[in-house]
Amino acid sequence: MKIANSLKLKGTIQVPGDKSISHRSIMMGAIAEGKTEIRGFLPGTDCLSTISCFRQMGIDIEQNGDRVRIAGKGMEGLKKPQRPLDCGNSGTTLRLMAGILAGSSFESVLDGDDSIRRRPMARIIRPLTEMGALIDSFEGKGLAPLRIKGHSLKGIEYDSPVASAQVKSCVLLAALYAEGATTLREPFRSRDHTERMLEEFGVKVDVLQTAVTIAGGQRLLGASIRVPGDISSAAYFIAAASMLPGSELRIENVGVNLTRDGIVEAARAMGADITLLDIRGKHEPAADLLVKSRPLRGIEISGALIPRLIDELPVIAAMACAAEGQTIIRDAAELKVKESNRIAVMTRELRKIGARVTETPDGMIIEGGHPLTGASIDSHGDHRIAMTFAVLDLISEGRMSISHPECVEISYPGFFRDLKSCCIG
Ligand code: S3P
Repeated sequence: MKIANSLKLKGTIQVPGDKSISHRSIMMGAIAEGKTEIRGFLPGTDCLSTISCFRQMGIDIEQNGDRVRIAGKGMEGLKKPQRPLDCGNSGTTLRLMAGILAGSSFESVLDGDDSIRRRPMARIIRPLTEMGALIDSFEGKGLAPLRIKGHSLKGIEYDSPVASAQVKSCVLLAALYAEGATTLREPFRSRDHTERMLEEFGVKVDVLQTAVTIAGGQRLLGASIRVPGDISSAAYFIAAASMLPGSELRIENVGVNLTRDGIVEAARAMGADITLLDIRGKHEPAADLLVKSRPLRGIEISGALIPRLIDELPVIAAMACAAEGQTIIRDAAELKVKESNRIAVMTRELRKIGARVTETPDGMIIEGGHPLTGASIDSHGDHRIAMTFAVLDLISEGRMSISHPECVEISYPGFFRDLKSCCIG
């Protein structure tokens, strides 16, 4: 595709800490015994929602940029919140915290913004209820706000119909409070940060292919957690540097956990030139990524790869617009229930800029290689849509305007500054 300008990406950048790992470090630190120290924490709005919820439940949390100290009070140390817990825009906060609160000794209400109130919660209510939890959802429709009455729990065997780390983590956290063992099985392996971090906090976790088992009654001990950079945030730079001719960008300290690195696999299959340097880290591997521009071609993305790049599909769709040939995304119906309906929103907004996109029930078909123009984009307040169109702006002719650009703060404070800092030309 002809690129509309001579921009390229050069230099070295560091993206902020991993969102999923940051949430989990606060939650586990809060219910652990003793002090937890976190380095590389993501001070994005979503993770700050998690901090504020646990402060409301009496946990002392000191946060200074990417450094956090938590005075954990143990499994039974949380205090009944006096107001509904506001999870903001964060599905991870609500779903994972529900697992902890189901086994507590008090009543709580979990709520959030309009987007959260549209997202399906039946997927956690079902297994938690099977464990003995008492949960009411708004008008009984499986939507937030959720009212949780703490209750004794029992271990279960659960086959999750979706490959969802939020469902898995919710059940595993509840399992800590349950009598007996809990096993959760999923259709494909979702991100495994909860399993890895529970081990860092001293919990024994058994993993067998797509099944995870935890014995109830285990206690967490305060830990020292290092959060690597978020590969989901690095994805915008991987895409931009791959698409803009003459680019060569080094992205330092990116988490490359195998359950999260689908973007690297998919981008390489499209022809991208990505080298992983200096792979390090014990519990969560990290590496420096060197990305050089290369012509891209369309591919098919489906099956077990989908959960490994679910949050990157909007920016992969952007790469598909710049690629030669057709890209088919299948098995990704989960995209409809993210912060926005990302299949519908991406299809509609990509068409506005001249891309050839067809919406399918579980994905998109994109004919790449057509010239793109700027347009007035509705981000729907979805951070990943806003960042994707900021990247598309770099390869489009004319002006792009994006509504609610501040929503990028949810996962990437300083995104526009960082993108600008490595753009040359
Ligand atoms: C997350 C899991 C994924 C992902 C979300 C964060 C997590 O959601 O889309 O942004 O931290 O566990 P699902 O587990 O619902 O697929």
